[in-house]
Amino acid sequence: MAKKKVKNNPVIEKIISLSRRRGILFQSSEIYGSINAVYDYGPLGVELKRNVKDHWWKNIVTARENILGMDSAILMHPKVWEASGHIENFHDPMVDCKKCRKRFRVDNLQENTTHCPECNGELSDPKQFNLMFKTTLGSTEDSSQEIYLRPETAQGIFINFNNITSSNRVKLPFGIAQIGKAFRNEITTGNFIFRTREFEQMEMEFFIRPGENDKWLEYWKNERLNWYKSLGVTPEKLRLHPHSEDELAHYSKACYDIEYEFPFGFSELEGVADRGTFDLTQHINLSKKKLHYIDQQNGGEKIVPAVIETSAGIDRTVLTILADSYWEDEENNRTVMRFSPEIAPIKVAIFPLFNKQGMPKIARKIFDDLKFKISSFYDGGGSIGKRYRRQDEAGTPFCITVDHQSLDDKTVTIRERDSLKQERIAISKIESVINDKIQSS
Ligand code: GAP
Repeated sequence: MAKKKVKNNPVIEKIISLSRRRGILFQSSEIYGSINAVYDYGPLGVELKRNVKDHWWKNIVTARENILGMDSAILMHPKVWEASGHIENFHDPMVDCKKCRKRFRVDNLQENTTHCPECNGELSDPKQFNLMFKTTLGSTEDSSQEIYLRPETAQGIFINFNNITSSNRVKLPFGIAQIGKAFRNEITTGNFIFRTREFEQMEMEFFIRPGENDKWLEYWKNERLNWYKSLGVTPEKLRLHPHSEDELAHYSKACYDIEYEFPFGFSELEGVADRGTFDLTQHINLSKKKLHYIDQQNGGEKIVPAVIETSAGIDRTVLTILADSYWEDEENNRTVMRFSPEIAPIKVAIFPLFNKQGMPKIARKIFDDLKFKISSFYDGGGSIGKRYRRQDEAGTPFCITVDHQSLDDKTVTIRERDSLKQERIAISKIESVINDKIQSS
């Protein structure tokens, strides 16, 4: 249980340190020595993560008439994982070092490695290790039943196929989307929140007529790539990686990974996969329920739709944003998180220059007028330079300062985080000026 000291890439170490310092992310259960590869989001982190989720939901569900949202339970009948193939197939081949007892995924070792990469000890023969966490259902041992924490949210969508299609008027193609926690007992962890044991996914299953798979795979891989660009992620650091035959998951016929160039190299952010009719067919066979789409246009023909899945990790998206935004501005001796204004945890910070002469009263009134409309933060303590620096590290794109002149002419300064440009604007125009800046960013 105790925290193992993991050596990370130096840039990742800086991001971890800033995340702690500014209350973005903490390792879980720190006061008890921590638990490995599990993290807690702090006050700024929770806002950033929520903004990412809202951005995704708006793009996938709100903006599209043919995609419906849902929120299924984490705990499901164990047969779900039998049907999905996770009980049989969701494992990694592992080897143990006989000397230092460290465990490694075979696919992370160079081919034909027989000695431990850490201590040179002898490695065991590979063993299969299922990645699902088990727990028990029921209050007494007798009535208990072994169940699993879901390793993906997708199955919650497939098992609700009939519930959703019979309670809503849907026509192929249509999608069902959800955001939620998933759990995997990962062996190889590290690189901060890149691979954790508890994480969140944003998944969408897009049901189509079988045969239209290539067209929709093509469509969704581009849509999803563009979504990351719309978050402000540097386009040159994003790429699509088509899976070769031996990289495909057990359910998938074709797949593209959307990858980001992290400080530790290009790595997967999201999978866009052609799951074919695999999942619905498996659930039909095991549950003996009819999970079909009835095609009214073709005289009530029963179709098992094929599926194109978009499966994104929220924590990896957060890590992407942290890595992509991190900027050491040496010229101005400051560290800046260049979050795009749309997803920044705080959009505007409001300061009285001094805590006297009525400045706090005006600043508080500005804050109270803004706080329900634009995510705002009031800070009256410390030197103005320090307050700016704190907001630079928090990634706040705009700071408003109430100064002596504000008392006379009801204007304030607005400072832009990246350019450090300052201008004077009327207090009455603050909301519209900030909204315009957010829109045009
Ligand atoms: N339903 C398909 C599915 O779960 P996956 O490629 O195993 O596919 C999809 O996972 C996404 O979920 C990944 O691209 C990644 O962003 C995220 N993810 C998977 N395992 C993760 C982990 N251990 N920690 C953080 N994110 C993870």
